[in-house]
Amino acid sequence: MEILPFENLAPTLHAEAARILRDALAHMPSAYGKPGEAEAEVADVLGNPERQALAAVEDGRLLGWIGWIDEMYSHSWELHPLAVDEPHRRKGVARRLVAALEARARDAGILTLWLGTDDDYGGTNLHGKHLFPNVLDHAARIEQKDPRHPIAFYRSAGFEVAGLLPDANGPGKPDILMVKRVGG
Ligand SMILES: CC(C)(COP(=O)(O)OP(=O)(O)OC[C@H]1O[C@@H](n2cnc3c(N)ncnc32)[C@H](O)[C@@H]1OP(=O)(O)O)[C@@H](O)C(=O)NCCC(=O)NCCS
Repeated sequence: MEILPFENLAPTLHAEAARILRDALAHMPSAYGKPGEAEAEVADVLGNPERQALAAVEDGRLLGWIGWIDEMYSHSWELHPLAVDEPHRRKGVARRLVAALEARARDAGILTLWLGTDDDYGGTNLHGKHLFPNVLDHAARIEQKDPRHPIAFYRSAGFEVAGLLPDANGPGKPDILMVKRVGG
């Protein structure tokens, strides 16, 4: 498996990247459900100077990809998006992609990676709950309920829960904020 800059991929693999993203998040009501949405995400990664991505490729096939956004902070990048094609999961592909992103981040002087991982479908024990008041108490007790929710992956990759955005996707559908120190 090779980790390659996203922009170096052939157009057929960019189309495949959109397909992988759509399929990987098909269980989430808020993600890439509309026609052309995943393709627009790929086009934005390629055309927006604040966005970059890396791809995991094996024998000319795209296994998965990871992107990041350098927009909001001087020393922190947002990890977005991350998707591995279903037949290639649990083989360390995402772990390699995150490690490659971390190396890039360190080289760029970035200190912290952050991400938001939504729960709009019951992926964790927070789905459907009222999270105010004492939001951080709920954050401290979060658990994966559905194996499709990536919180277990991110924890295994060294990320920790730093907070919650209650009702970000509608009542009882929070975004979960996670962070990892990568430099300094
Ligand atoms: C989350 C995702 C990227 C993980 O990709 P992956 O290549 O299968 O992950 P890895 O093989 O590198 O996993 C590394 C470790 O993370 C943990 N892990 C990964 N997937 C997990 C799951 N579904 N449940 C529990 N732990 C998991 C395990 O500890 C695993 O090590 P192990 O296989 O030796 O037990 C993949 O499942 C995916 O594309 N999901 C759908 C899209 C998505 O949710 N993206 C994130 C949006 S915020």
